[in-house]
Amino acid sequence: MQTEIIKITADNSKEVLSKASKVIRAGGLVVFPTETVYGLGADVFNEEALGKIFSAKGRPGDNPLIVHIGGQGQLKLLTDFVSPIQQKIIDNFWPGPLTIIFPKKNTISNIVSGGRQSIAIRMPSLPLSRALIEESGVPIAAPSANISGRPSSTTGGDAYADLLGRVNMIIDAGQSNIGVESTVIRVTDESVSILRPGAVTKEMLEKVVYPLPVIFAKDKDNPQVSAASPGTRYKHYAPRSRMILESSDKMAEHALSLQQEGKIVGIISTNQKKDSFKEYAPNLFVLGDRNNLEEISQSLFMALRFFDTHPVDVIICESFPEQGLGAAIMDRLRRASEG
Ligand code: TXA
Ligand code: MG
Repeated sequence: MQTEIIKITADNSKEVLSKASKVIRAGGLVVFPTETVYGLGADVFNEEALGKIFSAKGRPGDNPLIVHIGGQGQLKLLTDFVSPIQQKIIDNFWPGPLTIIFPKKNTISNIVSGGRQSIAIRMPSLPLSRALIEESGVPIAAPSANISGRPSSTTGGDAYADLLGRVNMIIDAGQSNIGVESTVIRVTDESVSILRPGAVTKEMLEKVVYPLPVIFAKDKDNPQVSAASPGTRYKHYAPRSRMILESSDKMAEHALSLQQEGKIVGIISTNQKKDSFKEYAPNLFVLGDRNNLEEISQSLFMALRFFDTHPVDVIICESFPEQGLGAAIMDRLRRASEG
């Protein structure tokens, strides 16, 4: 398949959106930017197109997709039931990096939901994403635009590296603002469970749903959760080298001992620590200011992909406190460093 790659500019955005929406309507695949990461999109009502998403990514068929809407009016195309607490969450966080699980309408293909009766929906805040959905006239089903198991794409170039020849079009709008995927939640009358942490944090949700508790659903200690959020079961975000997470004060010692064993060591660190790792350059990636978690999350997947072109035996990566956005950062880093 020929992949058309278009860099979006102030001058060409109308033209690009019109072209991309034609591809969506014709059952094709379009990689498009969102505020979190790039998505690999297709018409939610076109089963053949939905099937193509799974083959393009090499994604297991039981791992369901997120459906992106351009406005609240499109919700009723996908679900018949929005609870008052869900509505309150929507009013506070949409458009934005938050995905909510709803009961799925029967008219929506089981391919979207990996066979389950629920459907994951989000309204992205990036105006370009919503403009594409509006122009296409249909909600767009879109997982992250990466080969299954690899770090999500946060630049057009990442999507290009993974999906060239597998999609019809890539819209390149530069670097994603947030850099980690949306928060995924399940809401009941008793609690809000975070199935995947993201930029809408536990603390932010708590302020809105109080006195309802907000809990992290830990897939490892709870088999019901991995059933509820199948995506968390699979290998994820894997850099091409083995990665070890280490606290900032123990990193230097750990790296040195691996180096003394004869290993080529790569380092992922922060502004505060980078001077102590100078001698590891060029196998050194600096995420940004350790105290600015927005900056860290924005460059996180870039750091993992950096080692695609800087092959090392082992990567030592600095760890972060798990408050706020730190929960999402550590979730991704843990998965990236698992087996
Ligand atoms: O920020 C994002 O969410 C990006 C952009 C493109 O919007 N999308 C994204 O999609 O990260 P994906 O497919 O890589 O991750 C979707 C996650 C998976 O963990 C999946 O298991 C979960 O959402 N999910 C989807 N439908 C679900 C459902 N019905 N029930 C539970 N979890 C679901
Ligand atoms: Mg993904």
